[in-house]
Amino acid sequence: MKLKKTFAAATMLAGTMTALSFMSAGAAQAQGELVMYCGVQEEWCRAMTTAFERETGIKVSMTRKSAGEVYAQVKAEAANPRADIWWGGTGDPHMQAAEEGLTVEYKSPKMSELQDWAVRQWEQSKQRTVGIYSGALGFGYNTDLAKSNNIAEPKCWADLLKAEFKDEVQVADPNSSGTAYTLLATIVQIMGEDKGFEYLKALHKNVNQYTKSGAAPAKAMALGETTAGIAFMHDIVTMVVDKAPVKVVAPCEGTGYEIGSMSIIKGAKNMDNAKKFYDWALTADAQKLGADAKSYQVPSNKSTPIPPQSPKLSDIKLINFDFAKYGSSAERRRLLSKWDNEVKNLPK
Ligand code: F6P
Repeated sequence: MKLKKTFAAATMLAGTMTALSFMSAGAAQAQGELVMYCGVQEEWCRAMTTAFERETGIKVSMTRKSAGEVYAQVKAEAANPRADIWWGGTGDPHMQAAEEGLTVEYKSPKMSELQDWAVRQWEQSKQRTVGIYSGALGFGYNTDLAKSNNIAEPKCWADLLKAEFKDEVQVADPNSSGTAYTLLATIVQIMGEDKGFEYLKALHKNVNQYTKSGAAPAKAMALGETTAGIAFMHDIVTMVVDKAPVKVVAPCEGTGYEIGSMSIIKGAKNMDNAKKFYDWALTADAQKLGADAKSYQVPSNKSTPIPPQSPKLSDIKLINFDFAKYGSSAERRRLLSKWDNEVKNLPK
């Protein structure tokens, strides 16, 4: 009898628990999900995912990829989009996607909180992509390796062509990497197209590897796998913060920079959640997560403090980067195929 009662109570409890867990699954489902393609460093991508899930109950499925790779994937999936939001990565492929109608217009109520350069990106793309951070391109070198190989401190883009850097420079492939496309567009803008390609061909002789991701050369430099690496300066700073024997260089001839961007995918299956993420990602608090994840870009929300470790853009000789031109579909395609034909396959 006692056993019977206990069994009945246990059955009731189990029933209640099942009902409760159904209810909470229902509540989670009501918040729905969000599929994000993320273009920054994995640690920052994960911090954004976790914070947004915690704040909204929306389940985020995140994939980290380089900028050119995300662009290619979004284009390939255009008929049946998998992703809802593309957060981060250099602005040029976002601009190209905007021009090709792969992303949609959106005006966030947070626009008034942003720096002018972030708003300009949004205006130039006809409201289809917005600036979320900025950072300058540069290079770095491993001070231990430079010392043991008797290499003088490189200060200019021109120094990377010296014979002592033979097989000692690492940079990404501009087809996959937004960082490396920024290098290509920067060199062409500083030197003119003919001289710029001469430079890239000469640099090719010293390149030991074209990596897929833009920040990989910074990591390889920190590990002593290459003496020099071309990357965004903030990615090299991350290595310095982690105590790697690496020095950051702002090239003497001047350098380009990026406006890291965010776009909503056309035909997003979770459009409302994409907009919720977009608005949240522009807030001062969400943008603080970058520095916590050791990402030292300059945030686009005016109220987010610039991390003290960030390279000071006002101290760097920045070129007047033409984002409209170098983010245009025709120009990006033309330059990449020229680089493939004239540089990548050159014998060393
Ligand atoms: O998060 C690091 C970062 O350098 C960003 O500033 C930049 O937008 C992105 O990576 C570029 O990555 P990739 O060169 O791999 O496309």
